[in-house]
Amino acid sequence: MRAKAMANANIALIKYWGKRDDKLILPQNSNIAVNLAGLTAKTSVTFDKKYKKDSFLLDGKTQSGEELARVVDTLNRIRKLARIKDKALVMSANNFPTAAGLASSAAGGSALVLAASKAAGLDLSNRELSILARMNSGSSCRSIDGGFVKWVKGVRKDGKDSYGKQLFNEFYWPDFRIIVTILSTAPKKIKSRAGMKTSVENSPFYRTWSDESERSCADMERAIKNKDIAVLGSLAEKNAIMMHCVMFATTPSIIYWSPETVEVINAVHEMREKGIRCYFTMDAGPQVKIICLKNDVKKIKNLVLKIKGVKNIIVCRPGTGAKLIA
Ligand code: DP6
Repeated sequence: MRAKAMANANIALIKYWGKRDDKLILPQNSNIAVNLAGLTAKTSVTFDKKYKKDSFLLDGKTQSGEELARVVDTLNRIRKLARIKDKALVMSANNFPTAAGLASSAAGGSALVLAASKAAGLDLSNRELSILARMNSGSSCRSIDGGFVKWVKGVRKDGKDSYGKQLFNEFYWPDFRIIVTILSTAPKKIKSRAGMKTSVENSPFYRTWSDESERSCADMERAIKNKDIAVLGSLAEKNAIMMHCVMFATTPSIIYWSPETVEVINAVHEMREKGIRCYFTMDAGPQVKIICLKNDVKKIKNLVLKIKGVKNIIVCRPGTGAKLIA
């Protein structure tokens, strides 16, 4: 009873920052992301009667506390569906820094759900897998299907209509690129889960941002469909800035920006003034992700690598969804 799966991280173009149900992980607004080829988590799950308890190793390190509890929760859901009792050994490895605002939880959550459900003998649909992934970590429901994925918020109380739905697969827009700038690999001080809860509770801009995000989904879908980088980039940039305004105005304030973040943002604006079509987005960490097309990657790379605080960059094309691997 063993299976192994891979899944890619995804980056939201219209963001998720806040739940309407903390337990089932139901979002306040629909949101849209693209999977990133090459930012991958690989997770194996083995159910065996010989194990006395569930254990979880991430990048070789035994996990405890909240990290372990989340995995055990997901395993319990899968055990219930498969009507098995065996405990499991979960081993996961990311090829990118964990917890640095690179949506590592998204890749890990979906790889876990696919591997665990197969190891338990289940054959679930992508929608069912996405719902299970969502309950592990919201953003991971967008990493079951590949390419551009919309997390439809749904209206049901039980969350059965809240899942990641593919808009366009990873081959639809082959020239689309995300350049991830690595500015810091240190784990973030405020985890997304805690931060977004406080934002919903007290950020004065919360409702405005969330309503605007819901409305922007239709425009974003159209921009992807039309392969219109200027419209997509402007929408994504605006949505990210608005989310960070919500964070800044939360009490206590949530600030993921570093001085280098601002430098990269300024560089993006300068490049745009020179006619290079590039736009930025950011999540719960200092890294800036630059949205652009393949033909401009070289120019952007050369300019961005000149910024002192930029430790590394990763260029990603649209990636696949979760897959079983040997
Ligand atoms: C800023 O999915 O990590 O990356 O559902 O509590 O596990 P939980 O949060 P998580 O939050 C991701 C927030 C974000 C924006 C996004 O990916 O849409």
